[in-house]
Formats: sequence, C-alpha cells, structure tokens
Amino acid sequence: MIYDKKDFEGLRRVGRLAADTLDYITDFVSAGISTYDIDKIVAEYTKKHNAICAPLHYHGYPKNCCISVNDVICHGIPSKHEYLNDGDIVNIDITTILDGYYGDTSRMFLIGNVSERARELVDITYNSMMNAISICKPGVKLSEIGKIIQTMCEREGFSVVRDFCGHGTGKIFHDEPQVLHYYTKEAENTILKEGMVFTIEPMINTGDWQMYVEDNDWTARTIDGGLSAQFEHTIGITKNGVEIFTKSQRGLNKPPYKK
Ligand code: MF3
Ligand code: CO
Ligand code: CO
Repeated sequence: MIYDKKDFEGLRRVGRLAADTLDYITDFVSAGISTYDIDKIVAEYTKKHNAICAPLHYHGYPKNCCISVNDVICHGIPSKHEYLNDGDIVNIDITTILDGYYGDTSRMFLIGNVSERARELVDITYNSMMNAISICKPGVKLSEIGKIIQTMCEREGFSVVRDFCGHGTGKIFHDEPQVLHYYTKEAENTILKEGMVFTIEPMINTGDWQMYVEDNDWTARTIDGGLSAQFEHTIGITKNGVEIFTKSQRGLNKPPYKK
C-alpha cells in the first residue's frame, strides 16, 4: 500500500502519540510494579488522548499492550501476578490507533542493575534497528534491512528471531510486506518506494533464536531460556529517504534511561 502526504500527517500524529505513551510510562516502569498496572496506565493514557489500543481483542488478545520480560521474545501478556524485578530487561510494545492510523512501537526498559551481557544485547538490538532504518530510501532492496541487522547481531554472537517479522502498516495493523530481520534472497525482489509504511522490529537473543509459544497461545519464549530484546519503530519512505513516525520527543528511545 502506498500512502500520500495527508496519510503521512495522520501517521505522524499517531506515531507521536504512541511514542509519548512510552515516554509517559517510563517513570512508572521500575522494580515492584506489576505488568498489569503498566498495561492499565497505557490504556488510560491512550483513552485520555481519544485514541485506541490496537492489541485489545486483536485476534483475541486480552490486554492493551505487550510486555515481554527477559526470555520472553514478544507478546507477553500483562498480568496481576507478574512484578518487575531488579535486573530484568523488559520490552513494552504498544500500538495506538488515531483517526484510523496505526502507530506501532516498542522499547526496552532496564530495571535496576542489569548484567553486562544484557546491556550489550539491548544496545546492539537498538543499533541494528537504527542502522537498518538509516539505509531505507526509494530504490533500496527490502533484503538490505535483514542483511544489516543479521550481520551486526551475529558478529557479536547474538541470534536473530525467525518466527516474527516487521510488517507493512498504516491504516491496517499488519499488512504486506513482511519485513524479515535476517537476509533472504526472496526479499531482494521487493524494492522500497516512496509512500511505503512499515515497521522494523528486530527480536535478538543472547542464545539460540528458536522459540516456543506458551499454552496461552501468545507468549513466545526462547527455548534455551536466553534473554531476548526488541525495539520497534514505524517508518515511512519519503522521496529521498525515510521518516520515523514513532520517535521519542524526550530522547527516551534508547536506554540507559537516566532518571
Ligand atoms: N505490536 C505487535 C507488533 O509489533 C503486535 C501485537 S499483536 C497483539 O506487530 F495482539 F499481541 F497485541
Ligand atoms: Co509491529
Ligand atoms: Co509492536
């Protein structure tokens, strides 16, 4: 799908609101809070700004956002029984709908004292996403995104999750194309064009990339119990480059977050 100038304005607005929501919850995300309470804060903030949390009831998903702690790769379901602890690394993924447009973004939050390896994982996951975004412009092969992320992360001994990918978005939550975070020959056949809107959302593990899904049908965990990190931006291809719709207005996209 190709989006025009007016669509880009809508995407800018929703992207900013989604980023503002993550900025807003940053002060609450610390040891002792439950993931259920974080989800509630996300829902309240979104409602207050006349927007909708896209995950709620999406294919039966039960909560307003996804909160994925440590070995959870993605789709962690907020729970009254899950409390954040010192040393945890946590991804919070929110998708906001405003005026029919989707803003899909996630960040890592580091709780207290986090191990050196976990910090390295979080850093490389962020840097690989940003490097991939930086090469996006009309004429570039979609395969370049996966290539750059895979090369960077595997060079440092990390692995790239295969079972989930980025996706076209805009007026539809999950649309074509699939944006793989590792290299494939097939992805060479898709060429970036002005007006394309999609997410880049690499999930990177300290151990192997293999995963399993819990009995709740959502929560994906690493098989070997290794840590997993993820960041996500929604971006649009412009005439000469790329625009990030979900950038933090407070410079909070990248940890460590100094308080
Ligand atoms: N926000 C996720 C993504 O990046 C999708 C979550 S779907 C849900 O695509 F149902 F789990 F919320
Ligand atoms: Co997404
Ligand atoms: Co998301």
